[in-house]
Amino acid sequence: MFLWGTATASYQIEGGVTEDGRGPSVWDTFAHEPGRVRDGHTGDVACDHYHRWPEDIALMADLGVDSYRFSIAWPRIQPDGKGPANPAGLDFYDRLVDGLREKGIVPAATLFHWDLPQALQDEGGWLARDTASRFADYAALVAERLADRVPMWITLNEPFVHMAFGYAMGAHAPGLALLTGALPAAHHQLLGHGLATAALRANGAGQVLITNNCTPVWPASDDPADLAAAEAYDILHNRLFNDPVLLGRYPDLSAYGPALDCVRDGDLDLISAPLDGLGINYYNPTRIAAPGGDGLPFTDAGITGYPVTAFGWPVVPDGLRELLTGLKARYGDALPPVYVTENGCSQPDEPGPGGTVDDQARIAYLDGHIRAVEQAAAEGVDVRGYYVWSLLDNFEWAEGYHQRFGLVHVDFATQRRTPKASYHWFKERIARR
Ligand code: NOJ
Repeated sequence: MFLWGTATASYQIEGGVTEDGRGPSVWDTFAHEPGRVRDGHTGDVACDHYHRWPEDIALMADLGVDSYRFSIAWPRIQPDGKGPANPAGLDFYDRLVDGLREKGIVPAATLFHWDLPQALQDEGGWLARDTASRFADYAALVAERLADRVPMWITLNEPFVHMAFGYAMGAHAPGLALLTGALPAAHHQLLGHGLATAALRANGAGQVLITNNCTPVWPASDDPADLAAAEAYDILHNRLFNDPVLLGRYPDLSAYGPALDCVRDGDLDLISAPLDGLGINYYNPTRIAAPGGDGLPFTDAGITGYPVTAFGWPVVPDGLRELLTGLKARYGDALPPVYVTENGCSQPDEPGPGGTVDDQARIAYLDGHIRAVEQAAAEGVDVRGYYVWSLLDNFEWAEGYHQRFGLVHVDFATQRRTPKASYHWFKERIARR
């Protein structure tokens, strides 16, 4: 069965950051540092989903989705990132899962969507090998409690973005700007994925996936320097996290410096344990040109000639078909079933005079991308799900509340939820599956 769904993440929607024993995460710390997030926004309250989850489940039930992809906040389960589970933390997700199942919605739980317990960051975060083992312990605690009712588990969300923005460039928590010094955070996340996969399976989890953010890479020209730069970028953004998982080996990383010396014997066997699916998050392609002298082996040349979202991201629906068929061409039989675990766009949505939000640009975006998924399926890709990012307008990381991705508008002053035109459109689209 093809799963139609919506997706969210804990720090982006929950709020309630000090309730019921939750410890601080790297995002709590980062968002409270002046200058890190636009206008000083934080996830302290966010969509107040921690208290309003029954209303949010009702919105999804009315929408008619088959599945809901949410993430579990590690610091609610282990406030310091280690030790026994905080019962109140597990209880919250227990209630959420039961609430979803009562409405016939399949829960798909992501274990790590960037909100690492701050205490683990203080010991090095994903630069430290030990974090991978702590992650497996946490996975075991959660699965022990929920695996009887959660059929689908996603270990990591977008480890590329977490490494690149969080450890290489400093735009996201934990705010480190280590450039290629960030690469151990790639390996240790992948090791964490491998160890957590084993822990999930040992505790009765059914389907296990990883979600990678992928982008079709377009060379800026046929010039050999542009082609070489595009290949280097493809290696970093796409292959660094897909090759070890699907093929059991790293791509050639020589453009980024000396070989990764944190890889130990046996790591890649763990990392490449068979999966039940690959989660793909797609937003836009990337056009790449020869290096520009900043030390990186590529330049982001930007894409023109397409509509753009409020973020300025180009809207290229066929890029999703290109991406999915490209994955099939690259990995062949090693590619498990694919789930589009995120796709969507930010738009400058505000309620009109009648109180409705007429987000026609989002409808066009979703319609085009869903057609692209259908085309990829017609071209032989085994695609089994499509999750819109996001159910609700929410805390968009360094952009705070300025980028609205929701099918449902949130007035952050009142927490009033208003389904947008795209919500009604998606409801009809699901109904005529
Ligand atoms: C991917 C991330 O997983 C999600 O957290 C984010 O809000 C969306 N992209 C939009 O940027």
